[in-house]
Amino acid sequence: MRANIRLDLDHSLGEIDPRLFSGFLEHMGRAVYEGIYDPGSPLSDANGFRTDVGAALRTLGMPYVRYPGGNFVSNYDWRDGIGPPEDRPVRPDFAWRSIEPNTFGVDEFVRWCRWLNAEPMMAVNLGTLGPREAAELVEYCNLPGGTQWSDARRQHGNHEPHHIDLWCLGNEMDGPWQAGHCTAEAYAAKAQQAARLMKGIDPSIELVACGSSGRSMPTYLEWDRVVLEACWEDVEYISAHRYSRNTEDDSAWFLAEGVEIDRILDDYAGLIAYVRGVKKSDKRVSVAFDEWNVWYKNRQTDGGWSHAPHLIEEVYNLEDALVCAQFLNSFLRHADVVKIACIAQIVNVIAPILTSPDGILIQSIYYPLQLFSQHARGVSLTPVVDGPTYTAGARGEVPVVDVSASYDPASGVVSLFLVNRSLSQNIDVQVSFGARRATPNPTSTVLTGNDPKAHNTWEQPDVVKPAPGSASVGAEGLVHVRAPSLGLTVVHVPLEGEGK
Ligand code: AHR
Repeated sequence: MRANIRLDLDHSLGEIDPRLFSGFLEHMGRAVYEGIYDPGSPLSDANGFRTDVGAALRTLGMPYVRYPGGNFVSNYDWRDGIGPPEDRPVRPDFAWRSIEPNTFGVDEFVRWCRWLNAEPMMAVNLGTLGPREAAELVEYCNLPGGTQWSDARRQHGNHEPHHIDLWCLGNEMDGPWQAGHCTAEAYAAKAQQAARLMKGIDPSIELVACGSSGRSMPTYLEWDRVVLEACWEDVEYISAHRYSRNTEDDSAWFLAEGVEIDRILDDYAGLIAYVRGVKKSDKRVSVAFDEWNVWYKNRQTDGGWSHAPHLIEEVYNLEDALVCAQFLNSFLRHADVVKIACIAQIVNVIAPILTSPDGILIQSIYYPLQLFSQHARGVSLTPVVDGPTYTAGARGEVPVVDVSASYDPASGVVSLFLVNRSLSQNIDVQVSFGARRATPNPTSTVLTGNDPKAHNTWEQPDVVKPAPGSASVGAEGLVHVRAPSLGLTVVHVPLEGEGK
């Protein structure tokens, strides 16, 4: 099979926000305890931070990490997690029926973020707590001192403010499973009040309102409309969530998941434009896709009132990684709409990294994130693709190649991200750059295999991992690349005469 891709460097969607490669860490299962934080482990430093996990996360270059939930946050009192650890209360966690010792709280999280070279994205409880406690957390984190909560932070050894600039107004408040679930109108009123108090304390912060928790929700988009209309002037972002599933074990259908992700982002683009139009506003609100991943195989969410239980430790295979690549492709193709995205989650719980007392296992879904965060730089281009289609079950005819592209004016490099959805057919792709020409040294990396269910194990940790691909330059400076079936191909093309 063959495909032609045309890229026009003068036709871009604008800057790719590096925050698209952020992550999400929840107090759930072994994400925090035994995941990133394991005091006493020979693999941890003096703060109890797992250094092997830290190194693997650092390679992903995550700019922000969202915390502490998720469903956990909606019945969490941040005040339980501050002060001398021995004085902190042990609580039952409503969301995951687990025991929360509170030995890791906001100060430990901020210290861990800075150690990782990431910024904290802090969610507040708008389920069982309210605007006042949310504003007090901003006071605790961001005021220099001289008030009750900022002085408490200083007494706890954190002299300088934490300077947290990105905050989530609750989590999935449209979901009946959520502590404090309510109507869109009730949430919007609470979120608006919280936003005004929080920004009253620190006007520099940015806020994410809860959007729908998924496209299958009966209130999908209508919830978002009500929230956006009420909170338009108070927030900078509306959240979107999606967990993709292959419950029918239909790989051809599952591998066309990018169609669905595009659709969600198109829905939000339309809704945001609508509210903006109705309000005759010049303001921009963007999407924070602050939970995304594949999740359907492991549904163990009941901790049985134990501490750090093994919850939803999903095993990820090749086709899951290719779906993750399509999330990222879609984010790049909607770079004007989506500014923040967090893979959910980062360690042990539906995660690219699993831990044992002796080390870590890198799962297949780690690699798309690594390749995109390393190569997607500058502006997002709009690839024009002329290629074959296939029948993806109920999704109908879908392009075989799913594509996004970036161009970094500083280095003069184009990066191309190609998912070949075919289970068996390689595709020879020719890429042209309008009036520009490729230099003779493009490189490519592939993540591929013959079996969609192939996955890494503790015994065989390198079954699914990137390998060098083949890319060359032909006449007129066009790039030729083979995109293997069931594969992600990332092509890195320095252009002639471009870059500074
Ligand atoms: O990531 C697991 C859970 O999925 C989160 O706690 C919740 O927000 C979502 O439903």
